[in-house]
Amino acid sequence: MTSRNKKVITFGTFDVFHVGHLKILERARSLGDRLFVGVSTDALNQSKKGRPPVYRQEERVEIIAALRCVDEVFLEESLELKGDYIRQFRADVLVMGDDWRGRFDDFSSLCEVVYLPRTPAISTTEVIERIRY
Ligand code: CTP
Repeated sequence: MTSRNKKVITFGTFDVFHVGHLKILERARSLGDRLFVGVSTDALNQSKKGRPPVYRQEERVEIIAALRCVDEVFLEESLELKGDYIRQFRADVLVMGDDWRGRFDDFSSLCEVVYLPRTPAISTTEVIERIRY
């Protein structure tokens, strides 16, 4: 395979888009040539984080799709489908933030699994709290 075909996949809610989101997407893209991003549905976010997102899934998809570093966006319906998405997009690399370290090691039979360090001192939760008070 030439390096021009290396495909990277990553997942997240990306609600209330912030610089930590931008940085992980840019770093993920720099590991290959095409970046596919699975954006959690509103229902998945509710079950994962126990609250509805501020921005609806259609809005979050539109924001992520507009980024220069992103080639394709799809909705992530269920955490259990990650392996199916990796296969569907023929991803060579799975990138996750290191808050998930170790949790996706099983996928190393399908592709390379890379955990990137989170940007310190910012999160969607923190931004919501900052606005609220
Ligand atoms: N991320 C990051 N640095 C941050 C915040 C998030 O690198 N400061 C990464 C996460 O590791 C994940 C992706 O961005 O790979 C999407 O994270 P998401 O859960 O949507 O964002 P958070 O800001 O962590 O949201 P929350 O506060 O709701 O948990």
